[in-house]
Amino acid sequence: MEMKEFFKDKVVFITGSSKGIGKATAILLGQHGAKVCINGRNIASLEETYRELEKKNITCLRLPGDVSDSNQCRGMIDRIIKEYDRLDVLINNAGIGSHGKFSDLAVDAWDQVVGINLMGSVYMSKYALPHLIKSKGSIVFISTLAGKLGMPGHSGYSVSKMGLSALAQAMQIELKDEGLHTGIIYVGFTENEENKQILYPDGTYRKLPERKQKKASREDVAKAIARVVYKRKKSVTLSTVGKLQTYGLRFFPFMVKMILRKANRDYDTMYDQ
Ligand SMILES: NC(=O)c1ccc[n+]([C@@H]2O[C@H](COP(=O)([O-])OP(=O)(O)OC[C@H]3O[C@@H](n4cnc5c(N)ncnc54)[C@H](OP(=O)(O)O)[C@@H]3O)[C@@H](O)[C@H]2O)c1
Repeated sequence: MEMKEFFKDKVVFITGSSKGIGKATAILLGQHGAKVCINGRNIASLEETYRELEKKNITCLRLPGDVSDSNQCRGMIDRIIKEYDRLDVLINNAGIGSHGKFSDLAVDAWDQVVGINLMGSVYMSKYALPHLIKSKGSIVFISTLAGKLGMPGHSGYSVSKMGLSALAQAMQIELKDEGLHTGIIYVGFTENEENKQILYPDGTYRKLPERKQKKASREDVAKAIARVVYKRKKSVTLSTVGKLQTYGLRFFPFMVKMILRKANRDYDTMYDQ
């Protein structure tokens, strides 16, 4: 079956889809005929994205809400079931970037990064699970290269994303016989929305500084996410850096440690503290 045919009329929920990678994924899957459910906390951004999808004739349901609040997650899943009486795919994409050395990271910053990136995916998956088992559908977690190792200067972000690997691995075994697909995708540097904000060590949000690394387009990342669902892939790592990292961790772990020590030294010059 072609990918377009596969997604036609599937009910797909993409958390954090008012902007960025989530929005590009909503557009792609909507253009493949999926009924897309979009989410974000900022109502104006969500509304703007809704209008954009509407203009493209994409069937779309708006779900304003904060994934770090378990009651709101339950409410969003209930709303989807009320509207469509089924759920085929959950893409746990909502996430924030954060930086800060462990010694500087405020407790509130830990609460936010783990609450959104990890617990947001846990709550949403928990409430979506019975419906996804019924449809023999897919749960996908959006991780990052910092989700494969403890990244100096980004311990909170790494913890929040490495937790997703543990969850995906456990679910892949626990739920195999239920016919549910669980996948995780480790995304490399990707083009950001203009004015993207990230969490600083003191728990406030400020603009992400310009990143010099080569970046993938959001549309290419969306295509890779679609392939993970369509091919029912367990784990995919994007970008050349990601592939080198995977290879290095397996065969040359000492070299990866050297690179991380350099990243630790460079950290202080990267962010406006
Ligand atoms: N961009 C990269 O280079 C990169 C690299 C690797 C991995 N990733 C991962 O890819 C995912 C998307 O990143 P992105 O760069 O596309 O981010 P983005 O442009 O900042 O968009 C994030 C989306 O998530 C929503 N969101 C944030 N916190 C939320 C919450 N608590 N509840 C509900 N929605 C929330 C935002 O809307 P509101 O703010 O209105 O809530 C927005 O729609 C993240 O999980 C990120 O960790 C990104």
